[in-house]
Amino acid sequence: MDSKTLPIITTPRVVLRWISEDDIDSLYEIFSSPQVMRYWSSAPLPDREAAADLQREIAEGNESETMLKWGLALRDSDTVIGTTTLFNLSLDNGRAELGYAMAHAHWGRGYMNEALTALVSHAFEVMELRRLEADVDPRNAASIRTLERLGFQREGFLRERWHVNGEIQDAFFYGLLRREWLKE
Ligand SMILES: CC(C)(COP(=O)(O)OP(=O)(O)OC[C@H]1O[C@@H](n2cnc3c(N)ncnc32)[C@H](O)[C@@H]1OP(=O)(O)O)[C@@H](O)C(=O)NCCC(=O)NCCS
Repeated sequence: MDSKTLPIITTPRVVLRWISEDDIDSLYEIFSSPQVMRYWSSAPLPDREAAADLQREIAEGNESETMLKWGLALRDSDTVIGTTTLFNLSLDNGRAELGYAMAHAHWGRGYMNEALTALVSHAFEVMELRRLEADVDPRNAASIRTLERLGFQREGFLRERWHVNGEIQDAFFYGLLRREWLKE
């Protein structure tokens, strides 16, 4: 992986940076939480070993550039409190899917909006993607608000798209175009 593919992105309060083995406990805290994982596309992590596996998968995805996942850290402490992801990258088509999650203790402070504003800008202006997509559970009000505040438009309703933790889930599909972001 080189720092051009996964550059450090800094905003006033947070920094998007690589995730290392030192962040395994933070990953475990975020992705084992039932509140965070309620509408996620997989079940909560069962134990710290699963978080260590996740850290390895993240490193592999970043290396192969198939899934770019940044740790969202507070600048004050450098503690990872969330992740932001560009996945299903299709550079030929100029698009990627956006994903994000944050530890529950940090919700409601605007950190994710700050991080995603910087990441979306990076995706459109540095990576020169043309389109970002997001798939969200219709009941996930916080995430829908996050997307709509960034200007994402609801493009579709996909019925029974997911089967997670024994539950069938519908999805809203959202999209945002570079020309809308740049207000061209
Ligand atoms: C989606 C998710 C990241 C949104 O978190 P969030 O805390 O609502 O998002 P933000 O950090 O951008 O905060 C936004 C809120 O903080 C408020 N806020 C903004 N700046 C602020 C500041 N400087 N100080 C305090 N509050 C602030 C905003 O007004 C907003 O609150 P409101 O929506 O009640 O008006 C979070 O709910 C989450 O991790 N969910 C679980 C994972 C998930 O579902 N991911 C998406 C899958 S599709």
